[in-house]
Amino acid sequence: MTSPKDNRLPPLVPRYLSVLRAAKFITNPIPVLDSHLRQFGPNYLFHIGGFKKGFLTTDPEIIQHVLQKNHRNYRKSDIQTGLLAHYIGNGLLTSEGEYWLKQRRLIQPGFHRKRLASLVGLMNLEIQLAIKRWTDLATQEAAVDIYKEMHLLAFRIVAKTLFSTGLDEPRMEKLSAQITQVQKFIVKQIRQPYAHWWFKISGQIGQHEEISQATKQILIDIISTRMQSGVAHDDLLQMLLDARYEETGESMTLQQLLDECLIIFVAGHETTANALSWAFYLLAKNPRHIDLLRQESSSWMTEKQPLFEHLPRLTYTHQVIEEVMRLYPPAWIIDRVAQDQDEAGGFRIAKGTMMILYTYGTHHNPGLWPKQDQFEPERFNEERRSEIHPFAYFPFGGGPRLCIGNNFALMEMQLILTQLFHHFDFELISQKVEMLPLITLRPEKALMFRIRNRPVSGVETKTADQS
Ligand code: HEM
Repeated sequence: MTSPKDNRLPPLVPRYLSVLRAAKFITNPIPVLDSHLRQFGPNYLFHIGGFKKGFLTTDPEIIQHVLQKNHRNYRKSDIQTGLLAHYIGNGLLTSEGEYWLKQRRLIQPGFHRKRLASLVGLMNLEIQLAIKRWTDLATQEAAVDIYKEMHLLAFRIVAKTLFSTGLDEPRMEKLSAQITQVQKFIVKQIRQPYAHWWFKISGQIGQHEEISQATKQILIDIISTRMQSGVAHDDLLQMLLDARYEETGESMTLQQLLDECLIIFVAGHETTANALSWAFYLLAKNPRHIDLLRQESSSWMTEKQPLFEHLPRLTYTHQVIEEVMRLYPPAWIIDRVAQDQDEAGGFRIAKGTMMILYTYGTHHNPGLWPKQDQFEPERFNEERRSEIHPFAYFPFGGGPRLCIGNNFALMEMQLILTQLFHHFDFELISQKVEMLPLITLRPEKALMFRIRNRPVSGVETKTADQS
């Protein structure tokens, strides 16, 4: 236990303000949390749902303390380890303590950047299918909902990289529909905790438990067929099957494999789909950057698809993705609960305090980011990157629980953006685009774009100076 040297508490948002803003908070918490930041400063206490006090912070030092320096004192809240785990099982994202550490050590090497090289081919196959379908749509200059399209593509990529065999189209569609349905219900329960009794007696909980069971059965069938076949494949399931615990040399049980596969499905597509959707939106608003993005691959991508070796050359695309996730971090908030009393940034943190690491607010903090609301991928170039505090920017979290799929996601997004912008022009049709912060930060409504084919061979791209 740390003995606090400083008894200072952050300013408390008066309860009446929380009550007054409760309705707004339920529909979209971000403007409410931001208005408190302007009024009370970068750290404040407020009543969550009128009762429990939360400590919200946008201070990189405190964020680093919680996620990294004293991470042992902070556990995930019941939302992930209780509610989410109830439907999607006890995998990396939802487990805690010794079991989490054991699983993390086992699975981590499989997500190493070099190990992911073999997945580029599978990712490209799905991207190629999307390009084919879009080419037809673009011929008719059709309007598409980019959010829906990115959701579909990101889902298919996770599905294919996990199960390169055994997942036919009907089962893929079933899985997608079931996982989306269960996720929607989880969000409903988070938003309306007071209605738990109603969800129970109206049979909604039971109904969603059944859907989740049906999803698990599909995965069990695929995993057991693969185990019985004894044939090795180059995919994430194989990596999980081959992983051995250091102490015993044993592999995971069927139940553990199921839990980890389901978690990878859930954690691995919605976040990426959101980041990609926001990328399309921000690039449409800032077309100069589309030219720069196209320019770095135009010389070699006329006919072939990018390979793993090409990815380090896509530095500007990488910066674009980083800036997109600064302005619209898919995981817009991270929560932890203090297990013991502590002190950070000169503040006392009482045992049991819910720490709200406000990613969105930190990424828009004018004290940390000059011209904080402007889209400026150059912030992440080699010279300027070193000026950024490691915890002023944390779209993938940080410390030991840093997103295990961060390299996977970055690779996937580089491949998608480079290829789609190479083949198509996009015109934003939606007039008013708002954020909807659920578990992840997505556009509130359909994000409509008109797509047109580009003449891909011998494409003339403007340089930055010409634009
Ligand atoms: C843009 C895409 C993504 C973003 C922004 C993102 C963000 C995050 C964040 C913030 C965390 C930490 C949560 C916390 O500390 O409470 C996390 C954890 C995790 N993510 Fe991601 N993620 C992305 C893509 C992926 C992908 C593609 C996969 C898998 C293929 C994945 C799998 C996981 C898993 C398994 C965890 C739990 C890790 C652990 O606790 O050990 N994520 N992610």
